[in-house]
Amino acid sequence: MTQSIEDQGQQGIVTLVGAGPGDPELLTLKALKTLENADVVVYDRLVSAAVMALIPSHSQTIYVGKAKGQHSITQLGINQLLVRLAQQGKQVCRLKGGDVFVFGRGGEEIQYLRQHSIEVDVVPGITAAGGCSAYAGIPLTHRGVSQGCTLVTVHTERDLEVQWQALAKLNHTLVFYMGLSKVELICRQLVNAGLVAATPAAIIEKGCTDEQRVIKATLATLAEQVNRHQIGSPALIIIGEVVSLSDSLAWHQPRMDAFMLMNKPQKLA
Ligand SMILES: C[S@@+](CC[C@H](N)C(=O)[O-])C[C@H]1O[C@@H](n2cnc3c(N)ncnc32)[C@H](O)[C@@H]1O
Repeated sequence: MTQSIEDQGQQGIVTLVGAGPGDPELLTLKALKTLENADVVVYDRLVSAAVMALIPSHSQTIYVGKAKGQHSITQLGINQLLVRLAQQGKQVCRLKGGDVFVFGRGGEEIQYLRQHSIEVDVVPGITAAGGCSAYAGIPLTHRGVSQGCTLVTVHTERDLEVQWQALAKLNHTLVFYMGLSKVELICRQLVNAGLVAATPAAIIEKGCTDEQRVIKATLATLAEQVNRHQIGSPALIIIGEVVSLSDSLAWHQPRMDAFMLMNKPQKLA
């Protein structure tokens, strides 16, 4: 009788791969190699269709996306699935949008896999802050303008209080992930905490894709602009003087219909 891989004790491996923010050419060579060699790809909602198109047709793909309020599977369910696939001897690619460790729950998945003695590997990806800011022509730091940058979210399961006073005092660039439904709250809290209402602020929708839209405003006007332009998910908020630099630094030309909707035409550098 032939033994199954499981009976022979040959265990697979799970590689957590950051797919970047959308443009498939922003994948690392290591990420591409892992995708090409995987038996099964377990992927999230934010992995772009262009990246998914790079997965060989013979590989199995399993969607485990989690949209706001619509979870196709729980985090525990994902963890258990990864363990099960590895125990079947599979090369598993766990594909996530952006980077696996920036609001990506990569740490939690590794802890669970280690508890079950599964071998793990990690391939970092370009996080949304790095990719979207670059494609919007907004440098996260700039000599004489901003000496630092904080990546932050107001979306937290444990309801930890956001340190608005501390954020307002930093006097550098703030990048809010998962903030689309809370734009008004974010801007109001930062003004209440001491930032001037005229502080430049931007929202980038579907950054690093052909559909990218960049709306530039101020803390006083961003929420109204988001409503007016019906900005959708995923969207990233950047606050700080660096936003103004995009007037001279913008270079990415998104698709024309998205381009026409923007409040201010961008020039090619
Ligand atoms: C759950 S977090 C995942 C972040 C991801 N791990 C990363 O490193 O970019 C999802 C949030 O990332 C931001 N995001 C990710 N990709 C984006 C994109 N292409 N354009 C704009 N925002 C994006 C949005 O704020 C979105 O709500």
